[in-house]
Amino acid sequence: MSPMAEPQPLFSDPQASVDARVEDLLARMTLPEKVGQMLQLDARGDLADVVTGKLAGSLLHASPARIEQAAELVASTRLQIPLLMADDAIHGHSFWPGATILPTQLGMACSWDPALVERAARMAATEVAAAGLHWTFSPVLCIARDTRWGRVDETFGEDPYLIGELGAAMVAGYQGDGLDDPTAVLACAKHFAGYSETQGGRDASEADLTPRKLRSWFLPPFERAVRAGCRTVMIGYQSIDGVPVTANRWLLQDVLKDEWGFAGTLVTDWDNVGRMVWEQKVCADDVAAAVVAVTAGNDLVMTTPAFFEAAQEAVTRGLLAESAIDEAVRRILRLKFELGLFEGAHRPDAGRQRTVIGSAPHRLLNLEVARRGLVLLRNDGTLPLAGGLIAGPDGRAIEAGPARTVAVVGPNADDPHAQLGDWAGASGQVDWMPDGHPRELVSTVLDGVRAAVPSGWTVTHAPGARIGTLVPDPEGELFPDGQPRPPVFAPAVDDPQLRAQAVEAARAADWVVAVLGDDVSLTGEGRSTATLDLQGGQIALLEALVATGTPVVLVLVQGKPSTLPPVAEQVAAVVQAFNPGMAGGQAVAEVLLGLVEPSGRLPITVPRHVGQLPVFYNQVRGQHGSRYADLTQDPLFAFGEGLGYAPIGYEDLRLTEQVLTPDGTVRATVRVRNLGTRPVLETVQVYVSDTVTSVTWADRELKGFVQVQVPAGEAVEVQVEVPVAACTIVDAAGRRVVEPGAFELLVGHSSRPADLLRAGFEVRA
Ligand code: NOJ
Repeated sequence: MSPMAEPQPLFSDPQASVDARVEDLLARMTLPEKVGQMLQLDARGDLADVVTGKLAGSLLHASPARIEQAAELVASTRLQIPLLMADDAIHGHSFWPGATILPTQLGMACSWDPALVERAARMAATEVAAAGLHWTFSPVLCIARDTRWGRVDETFGEDPYLIGELGAAMVAGYQGDGLDDPTAVLACAKHFAGYSETQGGRDASEADLTPRKLRSWFLPPFERAVRAGCRTVMIGYQSIDGVPVTANRWLLQDVLKDEWGFAGTLVTDWDNVGRMVWEQKVCADDVAAAVVAVTAGNDLVMTTPAFFEAAQEAVTRGLLAESAIDEAVRRILRLKFELGLFEGAHRPDAGRQRTVIGSAPHRLLNLEVARRGLVLLRNDGTLPLAGGLIAGPDGRAIEAGPARTVAVVGPNADDPHAQLGDWAGASGQVDWMPDGHPRELVSTVLDGVRAAVPSGWTVTHAPGARIGTLVPDPEGELFPDGQPRPPVFAPAVDDPQLRAQAVEAARAADWVVAVLGDDVSLTGEGRSTATLDLQGGQIALLEALVATGTPVVLVLVQGKPSTLPPVAEQVAAVVQAFNPGMAGGQAVAEVLLGLVEPSGRLPITVPRHVGQLPVFYNQVRGQHGSRYADLTQDPLFAFGEGLGYAPIGYEDLRLTEQVLTPDGTVRATVRVRNLGTRPVLETVQVYVSDTVTSVTWADRELKGFVQVQVPAGEAVEVQVEVPVAACTIVDAAGRRVVEPGAFELLVGHSSRPADLLRAGFEVRA
């Protein structure tokens, strides 16, 4: 008699429901297999141990070669449960050589254009998915208020509404038409919640937040992302009022899951569970930490290998119910089934990699995003250069006058790494791209200017100064517990010879384009800064350039806004580029020459001095006076600021109705007039001010914006609306409510009161 063939297990039947498949597989799993599923481990380590020893359910930081090797190792495990492959492809596929690297989130946020951000994320997802990754740890929904923090570049800036709009768009872009779409990747809203609210900018320090403050500003972008269908959420490193977020059942269960209905999967940040033992010291050992993390509702545990033994021991000792592990594993398996991983979907696809990664349409979209992300902050009329040129069929400006010379100087004029910023190739997180992305794929400002000026013009270059380097921490390379101490930044010493070359170039030029800023040694995790000054020889360089008398256009390529030295008052123009991505140099050149109109707006306030922090626009009312004894509180550049090449005026703000009910909508029209000779893409910003509130509240909050093309010399009527339901505050009991009474609608060009027209309305219960 031949033995009966083993029937096909239900979990491998694609016709069965996801629920049935999950339950069937779960019932077959041993405790080690379940705990293993909860582990997300670093693929750069001993891959065989990670996959076949610890039975990890997910990997991060896998090189292209290791993605393939990991899949082969899974085939040798008992149940062959496919791995969930994840990485930080947060502005394009950071760690795939030649992928399309977008501006950073902060750079993209300057576009104030959710539809564009959605397209950018869709593009990135197709590249990431072709590589065989299923998940990107993006978008970052942290609110950047203390800009000494090293990760401001990863955020959409300071405003909860703008962050929510752009974050929801990014989620939609990544996740596409659903997880069975082969070009979709899981989005991850992070870092939940309040991680950016540091003490003095120090990374991952305790966040000084109350539940009410969380609900007022820090939670809304996450709620928006959850409502937009974001399938995963990453848990911040830090503690709030004594409780690590990893252990905060109120946030994870009561708010995120019960209140908002989040049914997706949670992942901790890097070794959050271990940190509760060795760093925050709220758990005596790994077993205790495992109990706390699982009980609070975490699902995937990132890079805490000891969780494997610890969680099993916790169950064996009766400290943790196996059913709690089962709940987490269900949420992990559900993702894998929905992604079709058991059917071989979302594997690396060499054919698609060749056609989509770094493709011409992607490069073009990236250029559009880069153009839209540039913010012109000041202009004495020097820009556009030569009065503005037009592009010929090859993209190069057409000669329209005498031949000119442009000196493109500064340490960031030709530095591809500074331009791409953090999480991009050589930024230090992975070991397989020490030289970063292929140089020829990055257009630096120098490349861009060379390629865009009329063919008869001369472009000269000198770096002029250095910024600095990373050096070992003088306190030693290891912390007492053996963890590596990150290197520290050492500013470059002033180099008069280097500066002299730039000065010489400036003297011989019609204009100087000075590209200053920072680089990844001043950006990122563990790289918060105590000051916001331009580092190394940059201030001396700027002073020397201005002293030549040649008009200086200052272009800032940086992870976060720097303060500017007094001499910057004398530059002809300032363009904030942040980290504008691979196409950034071309975009900058096009804007400088007037081939493209500048249209970006700041998503973050820029202080005059680091001591003004926090300087965000939506501060709570009530303080004595409005200035420091030694300095104004007025920021250097306010949230929402940004110029075009023509002045814009706002006129005639009119409300359709002045008295509204709580279910109504505030509707108004405003006339936006172009007072110049060039077209402007204007971002009409809509703020609401609640006149009297039961608790102190922000004087004004962004509630909407509309982008409108205003042709030269013309006026355009713009309609704006805000649902009354959005005119909320968070009351003393922590409830988000509309309080009937008097309000003002503020409409205009930036968050500065002087830029806003006002109209009063009343909400009657
Ligand atoms: C730690 C960072 O905080 C987080 O943003 C990132 O996604 C993970 N590391 C994985 O690289």
